[in-house]
Amino acid sequence: MNKTSKIFAGKNIYYYQTVDSTNLAIRRLADEGAPSCSIVLAEEQQKGRGRLGRSWFSPPGCGLWFSILLRPRMLNPVNAAPITLVTAAIVAENLRNHHNLPVNVKWPNDLLFDAKKLGGILTELKGEPDRVEYIIVGIGLNVNQQPGDFPAELGMQSASLYMAGGRLIDRIDLFLSLRNDLLKAYALFFRNGFTPFRDLWKKNNRTLGQEVTVNWPGGKLEGKALDLTENGSLLIEDKQGQINIVNYGEIN
Ligand code: BTN
Repeated sequence: MNKTSKIFAGKNIYYYQTVDSTNLAIRRLADEGAPSCSIVLAEEQQKGRGRLGRSWFSPPGCGLWFSILLRPRMLNPVNAAPITLVTAAIVAENLRNHHNLPVNVKWPNDLLFDAKKLGGILTELKGEPDRVEYIIVGIGLNVNQQPGDFPAELGMQSASLYMAGGRLIDRIDLFLSLRNDLLKAYALFFRNGFTPFRDLWKKNNRTLGQEVTVNWPGGKLEGKALDLTENGSLLIEDKQGQINIVNYGEIN
Protein backbone atom coordinates (compact mmCIF):
# COMPACT_ATOMS: atom_id res chain seq x y z
CA MET A 1 0.00 0.00 0.00
CA ASN A 2 1.72 3.20 -1.04
CA LYS A 3 -0.70 5.97 -0.30
CA THR A 4 -3.75 6.36 1.82
CA SER A 5 -5.90 9.40 1.81
CA LYS A 6 -9.32 9.92 3.18
CA ILE A 7 -11.30 11.42 0.36
CA PHE A 8 -14.83 12.79 0.77
CA ALA A 9 -14.24 14.17 4.27
CA GLY A 10 -16.39 12.81 7.03
CA LYS A 11 -17.59 9.82 5.08
CA ASN A 12 -14.97 7.27 6.15
CA ILE A 13 -13.96 6.51 2.62
CA TYR A 14 -10.33 5.38 2.44
CA TYR A 15 -8.73 5.70 -0.97
CA TYR A 16 -5.61 3.72 -1.79
CA GLN A 17 -3.54 3.94 -4.94
CA THR A 18 -2.45 0.31 -4.58
CA VAL A 19 -3.58 -2.25 -2.06
CA ASP A 20 -3.28 -6.01 -1.64
CA SER A 21 -7.06 -6.45 -1.53
CA THR A 22 -9.70 -3.94 -0.47
CA ASN A 23 -11.39 -6.72 1.55
CA LEU A 24 -8.16 -7.30 3.48
CA ALA A 25 -7.57 -3.57 3.94
CA ILE A 26 -11.05 -2.94 5.34
CA ARG A 27 -10.69 -5.97 7.60
CA ARG A 28 -7.54 -4.44 9.11
CA LEU A 29 -9.43 -1.16 9.66
CA ALA A 30 -12.40 -3.05 11.13
CA ASP A 31 -10.15 -4.78 13.63
CA GLU A 32 -8.83 -1.35 14.65
CA GLY A 33 -12.43 -0.22 15.30
CA ALA A 34 -13.50 1.49 12.05
CA PRO A 35 -17.23 2.33 12.14
CA SER A 36 -20.01 0.78 10.11
CA CYS A 37 -20.29 2.01 6.50
CA SER A 38 -16.54 2.68 6.19
CA ILE A 39 -15.32 1.96 2.68
CA VAL A 40 -11.96 1.12 1.14
CA LEU A 41 -11.61 2.02 -2.52
CA ALA A 42 -8.46 1.26 -4.53
CA GLU A 43 -7.16 2.11 -7.98
CA GLU A 44 -5.39 -1.23 -8.14
CA GLN A 45 -5.35 -4.48 -6.17
CA GLN A 46 -2.25 -6.61 -6.27
CA LYS A 47 -3.92 -9.59 -4.63
CA GLY A 48 -7.57 -9.05 -5.58
CA ARG A 49 -9.57 -11.98 -4.23
CA GLY A 50 -12.52 -13.79 -5.74
CA ARG A 51 -14.88 -16.39 -4.36
CA LEU A 52 -13.78 -19.96 -3.68
CA GLY A 53 -10.12 -18.98 -3.27
CA ARG A 54 -9.78 -17.53 -6.76
CA SER A 55 -7.91 -14.35 -7.63
CA TRP A 56 -9.58 -11.26 -9.09
CA PHE A 57 -7.85 -9.35 -11.91
CA SER A 58 -7.76 -5.70 -10.72
CA PRO A 59 -5.50 -3.50 -12.88
CA PRO A 60 -5.24 0.28 -12.27
CA GLY A 61 -7.29 2.96 -13.93
CA CYS A 62 -10.22 1.07 -15.41
CA GLY A 63 -12.26 -0.72 -12.76
CA LEU A 64 -14.04 -0.12 -9.48
CA TRP A 65 -12.65 -2.17 -6.63
CA PHE A 66 -14.13 -1.39 -3.22
CA SER A 67 -15.22 -2.96 0.05
CA ILE A 68 -17.86 -1.84 2.52
CA LEU A 69 -17.75 -2.57 6.26
CA LEU A 70 -21.09 -3.17 7.96
CA ARG A 71 -21.74 -3.65 11.64
CA PRO A 72 -25.38 -4.74 12.00
CA ARG A 73 -26.70 -4.27 15.54
CA MET A 74 -28.20 -7.73 15.92
CA LEU A 75 -27.86 -10.22 13.10
CA ASN A 76 -27.56 -13.98 13.23
CA PRO A 77 -24.96 -15.24 10.73
CA VAL A 78 -27.55 -17.55 9.13
CA ASN A 79 -29.54 -14.49 8.08
CA ALA A 80 -26.56 -12.67 6.58
CA ALA A 81 -26.04 -14.71 3.40
CA PRO A 82 -28.62 -12.93 1.18
CA ILE A 83 -26.66 -9.66 1.49
CA THR A 84 -24.66 -10.84 -1.54
CA LEU A 85 -27.88 -11.13 -3.57
CA VAL A 86 -29.08 -7.74 -2.30
CA THR A 87 -25.79 -6.20 -3.44
CA ALA A 88 -25.92 -7.82 -6.87
CA ALA A 89 -29.53 -6.75 -7.44
CA ILE A 90 -28.90 -3.15 -6.36
CA VAL A 91 -25.80 -2.82 -8.56
CA ALA A 92 -27.64 -4.28 -11.59
CA GLU A 93 -30.63 -2.00 -11.00
CA ASN A 94 -28.39 1.08 -10.67
CA LEU A 95 -26.59 0.29 -13.93
CA ARG A 96 -29.88 -0.30 -15.73
CA ASN A 97 -31.56 2.86 -14.40
CA HIS A 98 -28.69 5.34 -14.55
CA HIS A 99 -26.67 4.04 -17.48
CA ASN A 100 -29.23 2.08 -19.46
CA LEU A 101 -26.99 -0.99 -19.32
CA PRO A 102 -28.56 -4.45 -19.55
CA VAL A 103 -26.69 -6.04 -16.66
CA ASN A 104 -27.98 -9.28 -15.11
CA VAL A 105 -27.30 -11.14 -11.91
CA LYS A 106 -26.33 -14.79 -11.72
CA TRP A 107 -26.77 -16.60 -8.42
CA PRO A 108 -25.15 -16.00 -6.07
CA ASN A 109 -22.56 -13.29 -6.75
CA ASP A 110 -22.00 -12.62 -10.44
CA LEU A 111 -22.86 -9.58 -12.55
CA LEU A 112 -23.14 -10.41 -16.22
CA PHE A 113 -23.49 -8.74 -19.56
CA ASP A 114 -24.51 -11.06 -22.36
CA ALA A 115 -23.48 -14.12 -20.30
CA LYS A 116 -19.99 -12.66 -19.74
CA LYS A 117 -18.82 -11.66 -16.30
CA LEU A 118 -18.37 -7.96 -15.66
CA GLY A 119 -18.44 -7.95 -11.91
CA GLY A 120 -18.44 -10.03 -8.77
CA ILE A 121 -19.09 -9.79 -5.06
CA LEU A 122 -17.06 -11.31 -2.25
CA THR A 123 -18.84 -11.23 1.11
CA GLU A 124 -16.93 -12.11 4.27
CA LEU A 125 -18.06 -12.17 7.85
CA LYS A 126 -16.62 -12.12 11.34
CA GLY A 127 -18.68 -13.17 14.29
CA GLU A 128 -19.77 -15.78 16.78
CA PRO A 129 -22.22 -18.62 16.04
CA ASP A 130 -25.21 -16.45 17.00
CA ARG A 131 -23.99 -12.91 16.31
CA VAL A 132 -22.32 -11.09 13.46
CA GLU A 133 -19.53 -8.75 14.54
CA TYR A 134 -19.05 -7.32 11.09
CA ILE A 135 -19.67 -8.05 7.44
CA ILE A 136 -17.40 -7.02 4.58
CA VAL A 137 -18.97 -6.73 1.14
CA GLY A 138 -16.32 -6.49 -1.59
CA ILE A 139 -17.43 -5.37 -5.02
CA GLY A 140 -15.42 -5.61 -8.21
CA LEU A 141 -16.70 -4.05 -11.44
CA ASN A 142 -14.96 -3.97 -14.80
CA VAL A 143 -15.81 -0.44 -15.93
CA ASN A 144 -13.76 1.00 -18.80
CA GLN A 145 -11.78 -2.05 -20.00
CA GLN A 146 -11.58 -2.66 -23.75
CA PRO A 147 -11.75 -6.26 -25.03
CA GLY A 148 -7.93 -6.52 -25.36
CA ASP A 149 -7.33 -5.40 -21.77
CA PHE A 150 -8.09 -8.80 -20.23
CA PRO A 151 -5.49 -11.56 -19.95
CA ALA A 152 -5.99 -14.30 -22.54
CA GLU A 153 -7.42 -16.79 -20.03
CA LEU A 154 -10.17 -14.32 -18.98
CA GLY A 155 -10.84 -12.62 -22.32
CA MET A 156 -13.53 -14.96 -23.64
CA GLN A 157 -15.65 -14.87 -20.51
CA SER A 158 -15.13 -11.26 -19.36
CA ALA A 159 -16.91 -8.02 -20.16
CA SER A 160 -16.90 -4.42 -18.94
CA LEU A 161 -19.51 -1.67 -18.71
CA TYR A 162 -17.74 0.01 -21.62
CA MET A 163 -18.15 -3.14 -23.71
CA ALA A 164 -21.81 -3.32 -22.68
CA GLY A 165 -22.71 0.29 -23.49
CA GLY A 166 -20.02 1.61 -25.83
CA ARG A 167 -19.33 4.62 -23.57
CA LEU A 168 -16.66 5.41 -21.00
CA ILE A 169 -18.08 5.86 -17.52
CA ASP A 170 -16.87 8.25 -14.82
CA ARG A 171 -15.80 5.86 -12.08
CA ILE A 172 -16.11 8.31 -9.18
CA ASP A 173 -19.69 9.27 -10.13
CA LEU A 174 -20.54 5.60 -10.45
CA PHE A 175 -18.94 4.78 -7.11
CA LEU A 176 -20.83 7.57 -5.29
CA SER A 177 -24.12 6.55 -6.82
CA LEU A 178 -23.58 2.86 -5.93
CA ARG A 179 -22.51 3.78 -2.41
CA ASN A 180 -25.69 5.78 -1.93
CA ASP A 181 -27.98 3.00 -3.20
CA LEU A 182 -26.14 0.22 -1.37
CA LEU A 183 -26.06 1.89 2.06
CA LYS A 184 -29.80 2.59 1.83
CA ALA A 185 -30.43 -1.02 0.80
CA TYR A 186 -28.34 -2.46 3.66
CA ALA A 187 -30.26 -0.38 6.22
CA LEU A 188 -33.50 -1.85 4.88
CA PHE A 189 -32.03 -5.36 4.73
CA PHE A 190 -30.97 -5.22 8.39
CA ARG A 191 -34.49 -4.04 9.36
CA ASN A 192 -36.66 -6.23 7.12
CA GLY A 193 -34.48 -9.04 5.75
CA PHE A 194 -34.33 -10.25 2.16
CA THR A 195 -38.08 -10.11 1.39
CA PRO A 196 -38.10 -6.49 0.08
CA PHE A 197 -35.32 -7.38 -2.39
CA ARG A 198 -36.47 -10.76 -3.68
CA ASP A 199 -38.53 -9.41 -6.58
CA LEU A 200 -35.77 -7.00 -7.57
CA TRP A 201 -33.29 -9.88 -7.71
CA LYS A 202 -35.75 -11.99 -9.73
CA LYS A 203 -36.36 -9.11 -12.15
CA ASN A 204 -32.62 -8.79 -12.87
CA ASN A 205 -31.65 -12.46 -12.77
CA ARG A 206 -30.31 -14.75 -15.45
CA THR A 207 -30.46 -17.99 -13.47
CA LEU A 208 -34.11 -18.92 -12.98
CA GLY A 209 -35.70 -21.05 -15.66
CA GLN A 210 -32.29 -22.30 -16.86
CA GLU A 211 -30.89 -25.83 -16.92
CA VAL A 212 -27.93 -25.58 -14.56
CA THR A 213 -25.15 -27.59 -13.00
CA VAL A 214 -24.45 -26.71 -9.39
CA ASN A 215 -21.10 -27.53 -7.82
CA TRP A 216 -21.72 -27.58 -4.10
CA PRO A 217 -20.38 -29.35 -1.03
CA GLY A 218 -22.82 -32.24 -1.67
CA GLY A 219 -21.21 -32.86 -5.08
CA LYS A 220 -22.61 -32.00 -8.47
CA LEU A 221 -26.29 -31.37 -9.09
CA GLU A 222 -27.93 -31.03 -12.49
CA GLY A 223 -31.41 -29.66 -12.94
CA LYS A 224 -33.62 -26.69 -13.57
CA ALA A 225 -33.41 -23.55 -11.44
CA LEU A 226 -37.04 -23.07 -10.44
CA ASP A 227 -37.18 -20.23 -7.94
CA LEU A 228 -35.51 -18.29 -5.18
CA THR A 229 -36.66 -18.88 -1.60
CA GLU A 230 -37.56 -16.14 0.90
CA ASN A 231 -34.01 -16.29 2.26
CA GLY A 232 -32.18 -16.32 -1.03
CA SER A 233 -31.56 -20.05 -1.56
CA LEU A 234 -32.04 -21.55 -4.99
CA LEU A 235 -34.65 -24.24 -5.68
CA ILE A 236 -33.36 -26.77 -8.20
CA GLU A 237 -35.49 -29.54 -9.66
CA ASP A 238 -33.20 -32.46 -10.47
CA LYS A 239 -33.62 -35.08 -13.21
CA GLN A 240 -35.62 -37.29 -10.81
CA GLY A 241 -38.10 -34.50 -10.19
CA GLN A 242 -36.84 -33.87 -6.67
CA ILE A 243 -36.60 -30.28 -5.40
CA ASN A 244 -33.27 -29.37 -3.83
CA ILE A 245 -32.58 -26.28 -1.75
CA VAL A 246 -29.14 -24.91 -2.62
CA ASN A 247 -27.68 -22.23 -0.39
CA TYR A 248 -24.00 -22.53 -1.25
CA GLY A 249 -22.07 -23.36 -4.37
CA GLU A 250 -21.47 -22.31 -7.90
CA ILE A 251 -23.69 -22.49 -10.95
CA ASN A 252 -22.58 -23.32 -14.45
C1 BTN B 1 -16.00 -13.26 -7.50
O1 BTN B 1 -16.75 -13.11 -8.45
O2 BTN B 1 -15.35 -14.31 -7.35
C2 BTN B 1 -15.90 -12.17 -6.47
C3 BTN B 1 -14.99 -11.05 -6.93
C4 BTN B 1 -14.90 -9.93 -5.93
C5 BTN B 1 -13.84 -8.92 -6.28
C6 BTN B 1 -13.87 -7.74 -5.38
S1 BTN B 1 -12.84 -6.42 -5.94
C7 BTN B 1 -13.05 -5.59 -4.43
C8 BTN B 1 -13.00 -6.64 -3.34
N1 BTN B 1 -11.63 -6.90 -2.93
C9 BTN B 1 -11.24 -8.14 -3.25
O3 BTN B 1 -10.10 -8.61 -3.04
N2 BTN B 1 -12.25 -8.80 -3.84
C10 BTN B 1 -13.44 -7.99 -3.94
